[in-house]
Amino acid sequence: MENKITQTGTAQMVIEGKSYDLPILKGSLGAPGVDVRSLYKQSGHFTFDPGYTSTCSTESQITFIDGGEGQLLYRGYDVEKLAEESNSLEVAYLLINGELPNAEEYKTFKQTITNHTMLHDQVESFFQGYRRDSHPMAMLTGTVGALSGFYHDDQHTTEDEARNLAIHRIIAKIPTLAARCYKYRVGQPHVFPQNNLSYAGNFLRMCFAVPAEEYVVNPIIERAMDKIFILHMDHEQNASTSTVRLAGSSGANPYACIAAGTACLWGPSHGGANEAALNMLKEIGTVDRIPEFIARAKDKSDPFRLMGFGHRVYKATDPRARVMRRTTHEVLGELGITNPVLEVAMELEKIATNEEYFVKRGLYPNVDFYSGIVLSALGFPTDMFTVLFALARTTGWISQWNEMLEDPSQRIGRPRQLYSGATLRDFVPMDKR
Ligand code: SDX
Repeated sequence: MENKITQTGTAQMVIEGKSYDLPILKGSLGAPGVDVRSLYKQSGHFTFDPGYTSTCSTESQITFIDGGEGQLLYRGYDVEKLAEESNSLEVAYLLINGELPNAEEYKTFKQTITNHTMLHDQVESFFQGYRRDSHPMAMLTGTVGALSGFYHDDQHTTEDEARNLAIHRIIAKIPTLAARCYKYRVGQPHVFPQNNLSYAGNFLRMCFAVPAEEYVVNPIIERAMDKIFILHMDHEQNASTSTVRLAGSSGANPYACIAAGTACLWGPSHGGANEAALNMLKEIGTVDRIPEFIARAKDKSDPFRLMGFGHRVYKATDPRARVMRRTTHEVLGELGITNPVLEVAMELEKIATNEEYFVKRGLYPNVDFYSGIVLSALGFPTDMFTVLFALARTTGWISQWNEMLEDPSQRIGRPRQLYSGATLRDFVPMDKR
């Protein structure tokens, strides 16, 4: 990665009467940033920004979100266009390499990924340690980290060849691992990848094929799955991507870094919201109960929040939610499925997006609001939703990990703190306390 941010001006910060000049840096899109890297050395003062609401942690050239316009770009291409026109492996190539592949590049990349779809036979033993009713995210977090014990020739992260091998292996193996979490959960034998299928088709077959009969990939479900993978692939420096970058900044094993990101994504405020959103819609149950839940979401004394609503960056509708809504209608229509939860979701969206509390705070449906409905229609149980999110986001995580390691300005991440604990005091022996 070549650093391309430039200085466009100078900010002056006055602290206790002394003025400090700080460069203002700008990229190609988005807000400029004040470079505070020298502030502590110059002034003895830190900046304070818990949750990083006003902090850029890095320069990146992979994904850009315009939160005001509700736009998401992967290497400059609109995600809605990619979801409609492209496919998972073509977008994976784009995120990793920065350009869409030509026919020859795509053929080579697809073959490389195909050659790595199988898991080491002993990975199976890690599943045997889990209870059958373990949450699939618990299994995925543990087993993706376990891969660091099987593949050693790609952990030398300073070498391009080793990093490329890690990138190809994890993108190829994560669907196989995710499907195995599902099969172990439902007590069915795992299904090996079949390399003449598409990335999405192979995953669907590994989840839903059984030895007792032939499994034919349904093209409607395959296309919807592929779109869902593309929509979830990357999203700037969200919590789980930042976790992967921070873990990778120490030179940690790439599979261990992806396991760290998987753990972070599991939280209901992040990738776990798709499971929580469907559970919420089922709890609401009928349209007439919506006002009760809207009131709870607005009540500061009630911890309840509308799951699938709101976003740190989007203050307009998440473009992924737009595509997920269209895909939900397409899939349910084409499969002839009616789901009362969809009616509740649409009515809830209509009411909430006209409610002053939500409009004033820029709270609109995010990617997780509709995803649960369409994933159910595709045949997945609720506790598999975040596994699907992690499967897709693994491509974004490993692309961001690679960009960080190629960034000439990269250093180990080490935030500071404002300490408000006890000051120095003497130890008092137990018999004197
Ligand atoms: C993902 O970062 C990413 O890019 C994430 C993601 C990705 O692709 O990686 O997009 C995936 O994580 C999507 C978000 C999924 N989470 C949910 O749907 C859970 C419900 N949403 C919220 O928990 C919340 O909106 C967050 C966590 C998503 C964002 O939280 P912020 O930016 O910290 O916002 P906030 O908590 O400061 O809220 C601002 C105000 C507060 O009210 P006031 O203090 O101003 O009175 O909005 C309120 C909040 O109480 N609010 C909500 C709400 N979300 C925010 N009120 C009711 N319901 C909600 N969902």
